[in-house]
Amino acid sequence: MVPRTSAEKALALLTQLELLDAGLRIQADNGYTHIPLSREPFAWELERIRNDFPDVKLCEYEFLERHEKITKLADLLSDKLPPHVLASLPHAVDFVGDIAVVEIPPELEPHKLAIGAAILKAHKRVRTVLSKSSPVNGVYRLRTYETIGGEAKTQTLHKEHGCIYHVDLAKAYFSSRLSYEHLRVASLVKENETIVDMFAGIGPFSILTAKRHSNVRVYAIDVNPDAYELLRKNMLVNRVMGKVTPILGDARQVVNERLTGVADRVIMNLPEKAVEYIDVACRALKPEGGVMHYYQFVDTPEPLGTARNRFAEAMKHSNRRLLRISETRIVRGIAPFKYQVVVDAEIK
Ligand SMILES: C[S@@+](CC[C@H](N)C(=O)[O-])C[C@H]1O[C@@H](n2cnc3c(N)ncnc32)[C@H](O)[C@@H]1O
Repeated sequence: MVPRTSAEKALALLTQLELLDAGLRIQADNGYTHIPLSREPFAWELERIRNDFPDVKLCEYEFLERHEKITKLADLLSDKLPPHVLASLPHAVDFVGDIAVVEIPPELEPHKLAIGAAILKAHKRVRTVLSKSSPVNGVYRLRTYETIGGEAKTQTLHKEHGCIYHVDLAKAYFSSRLSYEHLRVASLVKENETIVDMFAGIGPFSILTAKRHSNVRVYAIDVNPDAYELLRKNMLVNRVMGKVTPILGDARQVVNERLTGVADRVIMNLPEKAVEYIDVACRALKPEGGVMHYYQFVDTPEPLGTARNRFAEAMKHSNRRLLRISETRIVRGIAPFKYQVVVDAEIK
């Protein structure tokens, strides 16, 4: 249970960790919110939960069941698929607006349409079910999709932390799994800051930050023209035109030409390439220093330590000084034993 005031953020984190038991009801009780978990958290998950919510208490609680809908795919497909196939059903369905996105393992390929139909049936607001048909790749960080249920489309409107986003999954990167991370970074920003969001995509860090603070300036850069168009559209619908400056271009060139020495904070959400842009982020920061949110992929047994060491090592080759790493956290699992990790660092 968590104090009621922290419930929204706690729910976002537990959803992202895939710890929420969707079959049970979330219940309010005497100033606290009881949130049902689907399993015991791993040690690193527990550390992360306690870190963000020092008042959290893990306890036994008699939750009421949600009767209104069956959300478990296996239940819906139990009479259509053999048991050994049911065992490898996707556990995670990502929801982006009215689109559900799943990964279909090769052994389930012949059953993908049945899975699509089951997801449509279980989630009434879903209009389209997409299966991932390639890994994320290329400069724009895109993947291809195949429609396995409902209307064939990749465009939708997605709501996140009170913001509305026009999304086109085929044209510009977006992941609902980063929802908590967007909120976390936006919450760390202080009034009067200037932020450079070097790899802004359709704007979930930039727009939420601008929406939550009355006096901030955010420069949101992306090299993908489609991401830039969606970003501008999203700035309009979220009414942050005066606070966010959208810039189409390569972050290195943009910082060199017009954003040197301006930033109190730099967001570097391009995990596979961020190391190549540390010098650019250092250049964007004010001469007196600032904060970096540095994302990377790590596939070692000790992801947090590895992420810290790699970042500290890379900083040695820059012209700035790493004062302190204030936070290292696993943002999400990418594959078995592969994680996206963020390092928050104070730089002088
Ligand atoms: C992983 S996505 C992150 C998007 C966004 N920050 C989010 O959380 O949804 C990385 C983005 O960086 C953009 N990108 C890649 N290389 C870039 C570069 N050199 N300069 C600016 N943007 C770049 C891609 O087009 C993509 O939209």
